[in-house]
Amino acid sequence: MPTLRSLLIATATVKVSVLAYAMWEAKQYRLRRVTVPVLAPGAEPLRVLHISDLHLTPSQQGKAAWVRRLAALRPDFVVNTGDNLAHPDAVDTALSALDPLLDTPGVFVNGSNDYYGPVWKNPARYLLPDSGGRVFGDPLPWKDLCQGFTNRGWSDLNNRSVDMKVRSQQILAVGTDDAHLDLDDYSEISVPDTPADVLRLGVTHAPYRRVIDAMSHDHLDVIFAGHTHGGQLCIPGLGALVTNCDLPVSQAKGLHRRDDNGWLHVSAGLGTSPTAPVRFACPPEATLLTLVPLDHTDFLP
Ligand SMILES: [Fe+2]
Repeated sequence: MPTLRSLLIATATVKVSVLAYAMWEAKQYRLRRVTVPVLAPGAEPLRVLHISDLHLTPSQQGKAAWVRRLAALRPDFVVNTGDNLAHPDAVDTALSALDPLLDTPGVFVNGSNDYYGPVWKNPARYLLPDSGGRVFGDPLPWKDLCQGFTNRGWSDLNNRSVDMKVRSQQILAVGTDDAHLDLDDYSEISVPDTPADVLRLGVTHAPYRRVIDAMSHDHLDVIFAGHTHGGQLCIPGLGALVTNCDLPVSQAKGLHRRDDNGWLHVSAGLGTSPTAPVRFACPPEATLLTLVPLDHTDFLP
């Protein structure tokens, strides 16, 4: 019969082992690949690299090196859905990590963690419903990061839209500022009608339904978002328990068909808050989406 002491030791051993595993998984970066049939018939495929939620600190050189190597994929277009920073001195680290990708056409929006540094929170709070209350850390130099991106040609989509041409594909890209901080103002954005062969993209950090619904109303073909961390602490075989917004947990990460027939792609992101450097059954990821014509026959969502 086990003694109380042996039960306590066994319980503590399991807890330490799970914690050690979750800290290890948080550094197991991987690339996910998906194909999206969304372009006009006859259009050339377009390879879009979606990066999100780096939450970088100056000491995270391993993550920065992994991100730098993504340039070897030679994407046509980069979408960055925010939460790049997690430290007041991390702008140079973020710009260095993304440096080889900044020569590729790209767009970005900010997340709450680009504006404010991390603060310690009870980890259990992450698994509870969002009360709407926000605890802010120190302000971060987000303007320097945005300037670094725009200096190299990436377009700032915080409550803005932009027309661009990537290879032979005409694109209308529409973005909002962070909805988790109520900084989104879709009414500020001009979203024109476009010819059928124009690719209409939406970009936002936190995929609150008010943003997704507004973008769907404007018939955006693919909406990109981050913020959820894929649930971060998931149940194997079951998935995410939370999305940290009002998006259903079934859409916490991955490619999803919207009710209006467009697509929503949610990145599980590459980082975590430094105050909770753990992931379980939800490894950090970037995604390479190959956009192909609607009449393309062999795709796997
Ligand atoms: Fe994040």
